[in-house]
Amino acid sequence: MKIAPSILAADFADLARDVERVAHDADLLHVDVMDGHYVPNISFGPVVLAALRKRTEMFLDCHLMITDPGFYLDAFVDAGADGITIHVEVGETDFLIERIRAHRLRVGLTLNPDTPFDAVAPYLDRIDTLLIMSVNPGFGGQGFIPSSLEKVRAAREIIDREGYRAEIEIDGGIKAANAAEVAAAGCDILVAGSAVFGASDPAAAVREIRAAALSGVNAG
Ligand code: DX5
Ligand code: ZN
Repeated sequence: MKIAPSILAADFADLARDVERVAHDADLLHVDVMDGHYVPNISFGPVVLAALRKRTEMFLDCHLMITDPGFYLDAFVDAGADGITIHVEVGETDFLIERIRAHRLRVGLTLNPDTPFDAVAPYLDRIDTLLIMSVNPGFGGQGFIPSSLEKVRAAREIIDREGYRAEIEIDGGIKAANAAEVAAAGCDILVAGSAVFGASDPAAAVREIRAAALSGVNAG
């Protein structure tokens, strides 16, 4: 069970400090890139990623909520991304997967709550991470959409049956209170933004979410 704090909920004026706070307990860092076009919000781009790269050795997993990931891909690679997750809705999925792979980065594919699972099913054999959005992308602090667990179960079933390596990650509205249920449905990686950086002790929040998730795995 891996926990990935989303820096979208961190203090951007003290980003390195906030990352340092979770570095010991978290497994990877979830980096939400928003272009103000694919989603109605703007976060940060490769320049900020490059600055962060100099300050942490954590795995930087970039979730690209942008209309044209192909245009910006090399910039994120050069900035020091370790993994790149693209949205299936933007198209060119095969081409983008191959390009991320060619850079020897971890390949992630994601889908929005309104996108049917069938849209990502054909790619499960060639990705490292399937990210299931459990909120509509664009903002942190939204409520978890329970129907996303149906996609988690569907993915878990296929991945286990076919022996694919893909890990299942979930993003949006995750906190200690629902971590057990989400983990029991079959998630390997839990993204949490506000539940981690909104807490007075982000490291303790990571540990709490992990403990809750593990209780769900063990119960299932
Ligand atoms: C939403 C982002 C999420 C977000 C999660 O567009 O993709 O990663 O930061 O934030 P919380 O955990 O607060 O829902
Ligand atoms: Zn995200």
